[in-house]
Amino acid sequence: MRVGIGNDHAAVNFKNILKEYLEGKGYEVIDYGSTDPQAKDDYPDFGQTVAEALTAGKIDKGVLICGTGVGISLAANKVPGIRCGVCSDTATARLIVQHNNANIISLGERIVGVELAKDILDSFFSAEFEGGRHARRVDKITAIEEKYNK
Ligand code: RB5
Repeated sequence: MRVGIGNDHAAVNFKNILKEYLEGKGYEVIDYGSTDPQAKDDYPDFGQTVAEALTAGKIDKGVLICGTGVGISLAANKVPGIRCGVCSDTATARLIVQHNNANIISLGERIVGVELAKDILDSFFSAEFEGGRHARRVDKITAIEEKYNK
């Protein structure tokens, strides 16, 4: 699986650790993130880049990280076809895939510890979309996108 990872200056440390962690698990990790913790990056740039890589078929899943995980997820979710959820626990990481068919997960370096972040990624990547009634609901999210992207 090809995983795109993106982060701003607030999450360079986390990105380096989680990138190595995912690579150790056999994922091909493509790094779209900032490398300079002293930079004053704008998190929307990285959310957009990873989201567009996913919808272009260059990656299969995405991992975004900023200070809280929120700003970068908001940007990613503006790209049609992206379903990105911020996660600070493993149950949410599993459920955003099982119920919401999330294709990107977002984390906050200033919010969760690194060992928990690894467990959160394990939950996200091992979960599968359940379909059924959840597909109907996800389809309704897509319909909202289509309404505003005509
Ligand atoms: C950067 O200082 C910070 O605002 C950003 O990483 C993120 O937390 C925004 O949502």
